[in-house]
Amino acid sequence: MSEQAKIKIGILGATGTVGQRFITLLADHPFFEIAALGASARSAGQPYPKAVKWKQTSPIPACVKQLVVRECAPEGFEDCKIIFSGLDQEVAGEIEIAFRLAEHAVFSNSKNHRRDPLVPLIVPTVNPSHLSVVTAQRLSLSPALTKGFIVTNANCSTTGLVVPLAALEKAFGPIDKCLVTTLQAISGGGYPGVPSLDILDNVVPYIGGEEEKIEWEAAKILGGILPDGKGFDNHSHSPLTVSAACNRVAVIDGHTECVSVSFVNRPAPTPAQVVKAMEEYTSLAQELGKEKVPSAPDSPLVVLEDQDRPQPRLDRNLQEGACVVVGRIRECPVLDIKFVCLSDNVRIGAATSSIINAELAVAQGVVHV
Ligand SMILES: NC(=O)c1ccc[n+]([C@@H]2O[C@H](COP(=O)([O-])OP(=O)(O)OC[C@H]3O[C@@H](n4cnc5c(N)ncnc54)[C@H](OP(=O)(O)O)[C@@H]3O)[C@@H](O)[C@H]2O)c1
Repeated sequence: MSEQAKIKIGILGATGTVGQRFITLLADHPFFEIAALGASARSAGQPYPKAVKWKQTSPIPACVKQLVVRECAPEGFEDCKIIFSGLDQEVAGEIEIAFRLAEHAVFSNSKNHRRDPLVPLIVPTVNPSHLSVVTAQRLSLSPALTKGFIVTNANCSTTGLVVPLAALEKAFGPIDKCLVTTLQAISGGGYPGVPSLDILDNVVPYIGGEEEKIEWEAAKILGGILPDGKGFDNHSHSPLTVSAACNRVAVIDGHTECVSVSFVNRPAPTPAQVVKAMEEYTSLAQELGKEKVPSAPDSPLVVLEDQDRPQPRLDRNLQEGACVVVGRIRECPVLDIKFVCLSDNVRIGAATSSIINAELAVAQGVVHV
């Protein structure tokens, strides 16, 4: 796509942890151009560098330095065909609906619309086919929309879990039980997050709402679409039970998850078969290629052999934080197979997923450009 044909996009919650990641990931994007930034009334009216507490290791990109932060209302975003939302969940629900109503394609990181039976909940390297349900979503509204829709991506710890689960189901058929214990990074709670005196030298065995999100989101993502295209089957062909135990740990970025699964089909796969299945797993994004889906990882999963990996500090930057890193694949004496997975919660767990979802939507003509 030529420079002139770039698609203008807006970022809501642009001053936050996820919003800042959107900016670093989109600053040099081959066919998206950041045209407008939105945040709360506290930030609106100020030049972006003044409004933001910039916490990235690279400087604020030149392309946003002159932008003045706007309030999160569609009036300031008319040129933007695509809206990426990193809004706080307290306000995301209504604001995202207003943008949909104004015929924007909204890609949200917030939890508010994930349970809507006509809103796709998409992990881009798992269930991009769910994008097709936006047609039913548009038609369900009164008046029906022609361009506007909301697509959400998953909770950050759900994302890290479902990519390996998708690879396993693709190779070995349905999983019926999954136990997952998470070790979640501080940045997952946004800035400034848990106070340092609560998290240093400590593990906090509770993250509000997190366990419930993992437990129900996995089935919507790993399930199919209803035969009439008007919703999702939530894995009803083979019920999937997930039990999650979530912990906040003193890591800045990168959620680690210790996972055990059992399969419906017998015999269960061996660890060597699981390694092969994960290494060979690919998704639509890899099939379409980098020209159409430039933010996708080369492979959705990277399997490490060393017995003490993955580790967040060492492995979260693999493939620009867009893949899920897996290790310690072995037999489980209670279920069938256990492993450890690591995902960058702010990249593939949030901003990168939204961007890949939007790239896929453009590639498939779901966003009208
Ligand atoms: N952090 C992660 O790893 C992660 C991963 C997946 C999903 N998420 C989800 O992504 C969303 C953003 O998370 P975050 O970690 O980036 O949070 P954050 O750092 O607290 O940022 C929140 C953003 O929302 C804006 N905001 C707050 N109140 C507003 C209002 N009344 N009107 C308009 N904008 C308002 C803030 O603007 P001001 O600066 O002006 O206050 C800021 O830009 C949340 O829904 C979160 O659950 C986060």
